[in-house]
Amino acid sequence: MADKISISFRLNGNTASVDAAPARRLAHVLREDLSFTGTKVGCDAGDCGACTILLDGRQICACMVPVAQAAGREIVTIEGLAAGGKLSALQEAFHHYGAAQCGICTPGMLMAASDLLNGNGTPSEADILDALGGVLCRCTGYRKIIDAVLNVGSLAGAAIVEPPAGEAVGARAAKTDGRQKIDGSELYGADQAPADALWLRTIRSPYWNATFEIGDLSELYEKHAGLAAILTAVDVPGSNGFGVYPDVKDQPVLANGEARFRGEAIAALVGDRETVYRIRDEDLPLTWRERDPVQGFDAPLADGAHRIHSDKPGNIMAHGRVEKGNLDEAFAAPGLIIVEGSFETGFVEHAYIEPEAGWARRVDDRIEVTVTTQTPYMDRDEIALILGIAPQQVRVIPTACGGGFGGKLDISVQPLIAIAAWKLSRPVRCTYSRPETMSSTTKRHPSRISAKYACSPDGKLKAYEFSGDFNTGAYISWGLTVKDRVPIHATGPYFVPALRANSRAFYTNETPAGAFRGFGVPQTAIAHDALMDMMAEKTGIDPLEFRS
Ligand code: FES
Ligand code: FES
Repeated sequence: MADKISISFRLNGNTASVDAAPARRLAHVLREDLSFTGTKVGCDAGDCGACTILLDGRQICACMVPVAQAAGREIVTIEGLAAGGKLSALQEAFHHYGAAQCGICTPGMLMAASDLLNGNGTPSEADILDALGGVLCRCTGYRKIIDAVLNVGSLAGAAIVEPPAGEAVGARAAKTDGRQKIDGSELYGADQAPADALWLRTIRSPYWNATFEIGDLSELYEKHAGLAAILTAVDVPGSNGFGVYPDVKDQPVLANGEARFRGEAIAALVGDRETVYRIRDEDLPLTWRERDPVQGFDAPLADGAHRIHSDKPGNIMAHGRVEKGNLDEAFAAPGLIIVEGSFETGFVEHAYIEPEAGWARRVDDRIEVTVTTQTPYMDRDEIALILGIAPQQVRVIPTACGGGFGGKLDISVQPLIAIAAWKLSRPVRCTYSRPETMSSTTKRHPSRISAKYACSPDGKLKAYEFSGDFNTGAYISWGLTVKDRVPIHATGPYFVPALRANSRAFYTNETPAGAFRGFGVPQTAIAHDALMDMMAEKTGIDPLEFRS
């Protein structure tokens, strides 16, 4: 690590000075050294634009700028947009249009739009798309953001008038959490932690399928004074298994001698930030024995395939089934028009802009976990089980959630920071890197579906047969919900008198699949609506006219 130097610049109209290594990322210095957490970090790689600020009046990604390059220059962050606490016209327009949904991209959007409006007071939609093109939003669909920038000049004084009590339904209302999302004061998982909090960084499996041993760790402790603990499976005080269903806890917090997917956590370094990020994964005394990974749709289901879990023969997790009417009779009726097809979908990442992040502290015989999450009560129960304490001893404080889409229904940093804080009696924080969130957190289930529809020549739906395989990856997560929802929703919005829908969920050496907007239903929709199109082509009937 290069020596620190003193660097000064103008920040939101004031002089700011820091002692920092010259190559440190400006976004990190703004957030961690100067507490300007309104600037967000989504990817730390110049891709998402969440860290967009103004440098000498022009938008830049602060995660891509070494802090030394800011010396003597003028920086404006989201905190500098509202002069004297009064929102700028642009911020008011964002509020008016409800342009901030989860809000994690909003500071970047506002700064990029400020750059545009500084040089062009009446931008066209094309100008806006061009200027904001480097900032990604996963929530809004962009329309309200574009409308806000487009109409900023014509909104003077157009405050939203809150509807009187009793007249709120159907009326326009300001978002209750809108203001803090547009003035940069909203706090997300990575935006808060006590100054003395230790940092936690996970060590993850580089293999899809492997066994491993961890050797003597004492040398690492001797070499790195800033290392407070190296957590492994033996450090989990309670149950080293979690899962969303009360009776299925199949995913270890820290793998115990066997890694079932690349990216699975096997150890966690806890210490000062510089130390845990300086230690390389290769510095740990790990002995790996790699095995052939069992992946895709065919290999896991083949005779004699390696069992991902020893108690799951054939790697089958569960079957689902919905049946009504007499399908065989229905298909055998004369004169039917039949269409059939096979459909395959892959893993899909939620790609929320906010990575998983939070911090934990021990308060006597209780643990407090402040974290970005969609499910604080489920988190509480999981943490209690993992620590071996009562749920009443766990308090989960949800931060603002910078996008979840189902992905933050599962736990991520929660058990790790809870174990570390519990054992060390020190506050501990953790923020996943973007590669870490991509490799370790749940995805949409890949699917392989075969389906067959029958209708009469006048467009009456008669029978539907559906069979779907769903890859749940290395652990169950929400797989049981998916295997049930798939056959239940197999026909989508169409009523069909005769149905047989089977689903099968199976394990692989792949990233666990979990909740993601619809839990298996979008995969089934691809099948039934593709078949509807095929039937429309074959019969010449408008798909909207198909009836039971
Ligand atoms: Fe800087 Fe994504 S572009 S955090
Ligand atoms: Fe843009 Fe959520 S509002 S990412």
